[in-house]
Amino acid sequence: MAHHNLDNIDTSEYPHINRGLDGIVAFSTTKSSIDGQQGELIYSGYNIDTLAEYSSFEEVCFLLWNDRLPTESELKDLKKELIGQRNLPKPVLDYIKNTNKNAEPMAVLRTAVSMLADFEDGRDGNKAEENRAHAISMTAQIPTIIAAFDRSRKGKEIVAPLTEGSTAYNFLYMLNGEKPGEAAEKTMDLCLILHAEHGMNASTFTARTICATESDMFSAVTGAIGALKGPLHGGANTAVMNTLLELEKQGENADAVAFTKEKLAKKEKIMGFGHRVYKTFDPRARHLRKMSQKLSEETGHEKLYEWSEDMLKTMKEEKNIDPNVDFFSATVYYSIGIQPDLYTCIFAMSRVSGWSAHYMEQADNNRLVRPRALYIGEKNLDWTPIEKR
Ligand code: SDX
Repeated sequence: MAHHNLDNIDTSEYPHINRGLDGIVAFSTTKSSIDGQQGELIYSGYNIDTLAEYSSFEEVCFLLWNDRLPTESELKDLKKELIGQRNLPKPVLDYIKNTNKNAEPMAVLRTAVSMLADFEDGRDGNKAEENRAHAISMTAQIPTIIAAFDRSRKGKEIVAPLTEGSTAYNFLYMLNGEKPGEAAEKTMDLCLILHAEHGMNASTFTARTICATESDMFSAVTGAIGALKGPLHGGANTAVMNTLLELEKQGENADAVAFTKEKLAKKEKIMGFGHRVYKTFDPRARHLRKMSQKLSEETGHEKLYEWSEDMLKTMKEEKNIDPNVDFFSATVYYSIGIQPDLYTCIFAMSRVSGWSAHYMEQADNNRLVRPRALYIGEKNLDWTPIEKR
């Protein structure tokens, strides 16, 4: 192969200078498929609507990690393994107790997940087995980290994880210190199913890129959490709730239509709207919209839902832009009593299943990720001594 230096870049050989890698296929995968025109989302063969109706988060984890549904005994074993891994190593718990109570929950989660690596055993050199074990322990421990930090920062006693119950049930129990009702568990579980996996989004791309250097899964998930934290990605759900609470401060008669138009006129982004791939309603948002409506009626937050619908209508009329997963998830979490700055952590608590699935897929058929940058600066400038600059 001919060697190129930067002086004679053949731009036809480097045609893909798509900002934000828009439309570039970087990996092949069996984990999910998104049809952005139809608004269709598939996890390893199964439509998200089917999974939302019949599945559980633990079953979705098995599906993503194995590309098939579990048998009854396989699912039972996985649930048992997840339950067995819920406790945190003491130094991680000590870090959570001792860190700044005003820290961002996503920053604490990122640091704690990174620390977990220090306490993982090697698995006798069997990489596949080691990766599977790491996927299970992170999926089991992330909920414990989030709940422990939330309680610690509020000066409340940290609640130890249960030795029974689903991920959703145990998380709400650790967060609130009391066992959740069936409806709250079901809502939480459905949110975890809907957020588990979504193609080559920014955090998954980050995880695969880290995996591709043959680094470990904890590094990949730590990096992915950092990527998810930003408001253009997972951080949008917290931003959506803050927007709605801003409206609430204006009182009962706040005008969400005018509010949205004003923001658009100032060229501000409306959080929870738009998507690189979907050019129609995000199928996850359809489920979350229904949940949001039902829950806000039940909990007396009708206004928040009404304003959400006003924003949705305005965005469609003004910009022809639809909501994404982060828009209605905000009011759903709010209705089950979760504080807005935890929403992105809950996204991570689910998406760790997808990140780890992609990590294992990448590790199975790896090649270093190393794109090119088009150099647009000057070259070989004359040196000017410092006193003459
Ligand atoms: C997630 O990738 C994934 O799969 C992510 C995700 C997952 O499950 O992993 O689905 C989760 O990250 C959801 C997205 C959460 N982010 C937000 O809600 C933030 C607000 N949204 C936008 O910033 C934006 O829509 C993005 C970041 C989601 C997508 O950005 P793109 O593809 O780079 O699109 P763009 O910014 O170039 O927008 C194209 C046009 C622009 O108008 P023009 O300049 O062409 O006139 O649409 C406009 C934008 O200004 N636009 C918006 C808008 N989103 C797009 N205008 C106002 N408000 C918005 N939200």
